[in-house]
Amino acid sequence: MCGIVGITSKNEKIVPGLIAGLKALEYRGYDSAGIAYLKNHAIKIIKSKGRVNDLQKIVNMEEETTTGIAHTRWATHGKATSKNAHPHSFGSIAIVHNGIIENYAEIREELEKDGYHFKTETDTEVACALLSFYYDKWKNIENAIQSFSKKARGSYAIGLLCKDIPNTIFAIKKESPLIIGVGDNENLIASDVRAVLKYTSNYYILSDNEYAIITPSEVKIYNQQGKMVSKEIKKYSGNKNNETKNKYEHYMLKEIMEQPSIIDTTIHEYFEDGISSLLAKMPDLTKYKKIDIVACGTAYHAGLVAKYLFEEKLNLETNVDIASEYRYKRLFLDKNSLVIFISQSGETADTLAALKKVKNLKVDTLGIINVKESSIARLVDTVIYTEAGDEVAVASTKAYTSQVLLLSLLVFSEAIRQGKLESDEQEKIIADFKKIPKQLTKLLASNVYQQIAKTLYQQKDIFYLGRRLDYYLMLEGSLKLKEISYIHSECYAAGELKHGTISLIANNTPVVASFTNEELNEKTISNIEEVIARGAEVTVITNDLDYKGGNGIKNIIYIPKTSDFVIPFLVVVPLQMIAYEVAKLKKCDIDKPRNLAKSVTVE
Ligand code: M6R
Repeated sequence: MCGIVGITSKNEKIVPGLIAGLKALEYRGYDSAGIAYLKNHAIKIIKSKGRVNDLQKIVNMEEETTTGIAHTRWATHGKATSKNAHPHSFGSIAIVHNGIIENYAEIREELEKDGYHFKTETDTEVACALLSFYYDKWKNIENAIQSFSKKARGSYAIGLLCKDIPNTIFAIKKESPLIIGVGDNENLIASDVRAVLKYTSNYYILSDNEYAIITPSEVKIYNQQGKMVSKEIKKYSGNKNNETKNKYEHYMLKEIMEQPSIIDTTIHEYFEDGISSLLAKMPDLTKYKKIDIVACGTAYHAGLVAKYLFEEKLNLETNVDIASEYRYKRLFLDKNSLVIFISQSGETADTLAALKKVKNLKVDTLGIINVKESSIARLVDTVIYTEAGDEVAVASTKAYTSQVLLLSLLVFSEAIRQGKLESDEQEKIIADFKKIPKQLTKLLASNVYQQIAKTLYQQKDIFYLGRRLDYYLMLEGSLKLKEISYIHSECYAAGELKHGTISLIANNTPVVASFTNEELNEKTISNIEEVIARGAEVTVITNDLDYKGGNGIKNIIYIPKTSDFVIPFLVVVPLQMIAYEVAKLKKCDIDKPRNLAKSVTVE
């Protein structure tokens, strides 16, 4: 989603720094890019459709300027063209913006009556015109920002230049993320701290309804009423070198391959002193009678796995909702409810909005979050951090397995606390957890995924099937395939297919199915036979080592028998690999799939 970076420096020419900052934000997903800088009391703007590299070709990297803002745009209002790209300018003002101005149409109409003419369909151009309108009216930029914040509805992180005010960047924030990097010779703004690491690891986090005035030697932060606020300075503690592909062709492959060691590290950490350390590190859920889980996309699929475990292992009613639905629905919560929010980025707009709604109800909240100090991590009552490290590929892999691992450990710890597991069962499950890294390493060493991919990559529609836990896992496999390979795919609960969708199964239709639950395997195998009878060609993932397949079964991936707590890893990692190999054969832009953004900061 849109990325913002801005630099104001004491002496450095800042165009290379802006371009480097934009490149650090590329992982967020975008379709056009642009920069604006102050020079000789004027603002120069350069924009281009496509990649930051395309922009780099048309900017002067040696330009004599020390103050500028830059942007990668993920189109919301108006197509992905260089005209619609940011920065936008009006009068003395130029801005870059992340978010959506919800009442832009109404504001545009008012401004048009005042003689303003717009060149684009974007809400950002309207925001810029409104700021310019107030600036012209008050002849004071702070008053203009305060008036803007009262009038504009929606979400916005804005970087602003005013041609009358040299060496200064203004930042405005509501709902969309924005940080201020504090360097020795320069200060910066960015959507994500990763964009400022070339200069500094120190940063402030802007809160909602704050704005800042930033010069090379000073950062002043104000609340909406114009009262100065003081803030704690944060220090980035992540690995600055995480963002190299090493020997891998794609970040996605690198991140898939990192999973065994991430799981190994997490398991060692939680079982450092056996069960006692697990119980000490995991929150006590004994008092809760009901759990809601809220998330989007892949994180939602991790939530479904948790639902299965909460219900099966703890007998605890658990609902999982997509955040964009949850934020608008009636909630049935009380003091015995816990709402769990799962998010890799910790910035997903819908998940954040749902969290705010629950906080207003004063219901307990728990976050499973990857990015430290992210908005959701700061707002939940209790946070458990996944230790996946930076995930750069848009398609989530290691973040998903880290989420599922922590949720599994959470349920396991609670089952022990509530006396639901005998000690020999506990020991067996711990042993199963500890086996995961080796089992995954073995699965990842196989070349079966390339062979399977060869049979799938030219297909138009692929179906995924499973029951109960397998269904939840196949949902993730299906999403992985469609997002990076652009092949249409649907996932169905195996028993549901015959209620309509089976009409789509014809000769050679590819189906991927998994069955890993002894009680249900025969049922799923019958459903597989039903699709084979209609011509489907099936790839199976199973831990039933006696299953030998038959006519219509094209591939079988055998996984070891293990506890329910552990099955998800062994099923989903092969599905990630199948999606990756299919997308590779299709020569797709695997790490940055079209139309997608890593951090979805608009509704
Ligand atoms: O950052 P979040 O975990 O909140 O993101 C939620 C989804 O946008 C995300 O999981 C998305 O579905 C994945 N990138 C898909 O691989």
